[in-house]
Amino acid sequence: MYKLDNDFTLRERALKAFPNGVYGHQASGSLSPNHPQFFSRARGCRLWDSDGNEYIDFMCGYGTNLLGYGHPRVDDAAARQQRQIDCATGPSPLMLELAEMYNDKLAHADWTIFAKNGTDATTICVMTARAQTGKNTILIADGAYHGSGPWCTPGPVGVTPGDRDHQISYDYNDVSSLRAAVEQAGNDLAAIIVSPFKHDVFVDQEWPTDEFAKAARALCDENNAALILDDVRCAFRFVLGSTWEAIGVLPDLCAMSKSVANGYSLAVVSGNDKFREGAGQIYTTGSFWFAATSFAAAMETISVIEEEDSIAAIKAAGDTLRKGLDEQASAYGFSLRQTGPSQMPLVLIDDDPMWEKNNFFCNEAAQRGVYMHPWHNMFLCAAHREADIAEALENTDGAFKALKKQFG
Ligand SMILES: Cc1ncc(COP(=O)(O)O)c(C=O)c1O
Repeated sequence: MYKLDNDFTLRERALKAFPNGVYGHQASGSLSPNHPQFFSRARGCRLWDSDGNEYIDFMCGYGTNLLGYGHPRVDDAAARQQRQIDCATGPSPLMLELAEMYNDKLAHADWTIFAKNGTDATTICVMTARAQTGKNTILIADGAYHGSGPWCTPGPVGVTPGDRDHQISYDYNDVSSLRAAVEQAGNDLAAIIVSPFKHDVFVDQEWPTDEFAKAARALCDENNAALILDDVRCAFRFVLGSTWEAIGVLPDLCAMSKSVANGYSLAVVSGNDKFREGAGQIYTTGSFWFAATSFAAAMETISVIEEEDSIAAIKAAGDTLRKGLDEQASAYGFSLRQTGPSQMPLVLIDDDPMWEKNNFFCNEAAQRGVYMHPWHNMFLCAAHREADIAEALENTDGAFKALKKQFG
């Protein structure tokens, strides 16, 4: 019998312990109340909540889990490093080795800066672009998420209008709106920031057209501005490089985080020599940014991806899940919109404008041991083996049956 008794008690306590319960996108309020909020254990592609319910997890820590939770090789490398030196008065030589590794592997990269969170990385990119070009205006796609800093938080409470000065929005994949925004920026264009594909919440995802990606590159070149790729969510799920390497477009500056150290906290900014001076001039640092444990985890993550062909494994798992869900949905008379790449799918149900059916479906799936999200893109990982996907699909069948009973 599926119960969330502990979870409800913890949520009550959280309302007192934190200003307004668990914050950010991991808050229970952002999902149906019958979705678990707290988890006690994670291994491979599986999660156990605080009541002991087990799930095959298709959120993968909102992207931090690439190879599987608790990957033995990554965890061993991190533990060995932690015993030796982690956070200290100066960096370990490992920091340099890792930077050299990125500069070598990422086609656009001549230099690297490490930080801790995606917001650190996107903010450093924006600061670098402004420092290098001496200009201010940043073009940002309407609805895109680039972090929680004052310049980019989607809920701008507690920020000043000045924090959002010098920003112009454009529509993703729409070359004419991008051109119009460039024109509006006039001679003040510092950067265009763009995500590798449109992965906004609630709406269908879109892979960039070649025309759009190339236009973004060309407009930056023509205007002496930086093309910033916000690869925080996508890095290493498509290529072992910046994600637009797959379509032959290189950024000037790239922000990565989430999966690069398979769950250890690390953000990576990389850039080309055109932006080296600006990057060298900005003041940026953090007390924990030199911690060597994450560097060791990141190095091992790259080795595992290369040796185990993890990117292909993640894609294969995503393709099987996508096909299975489509077949089930149509067998029960529903039509799904599965958009975005199968490594990071967003699954929406047609005729469901307020995501009511999808909330119900995801909740039914959770009760059957499958953790899915009704309006945020999901994430596959290399630990999703054929048997896990088959088991997940066996259980989503029951969720579709319940959906049919409720809404059919
Ligand atoms: C595309 C993108 N950029 C930036 C961020 C911010 O990263 P963080 O939450 O680590 O600060 C996120 C986080 O979800 C993201 O998805």
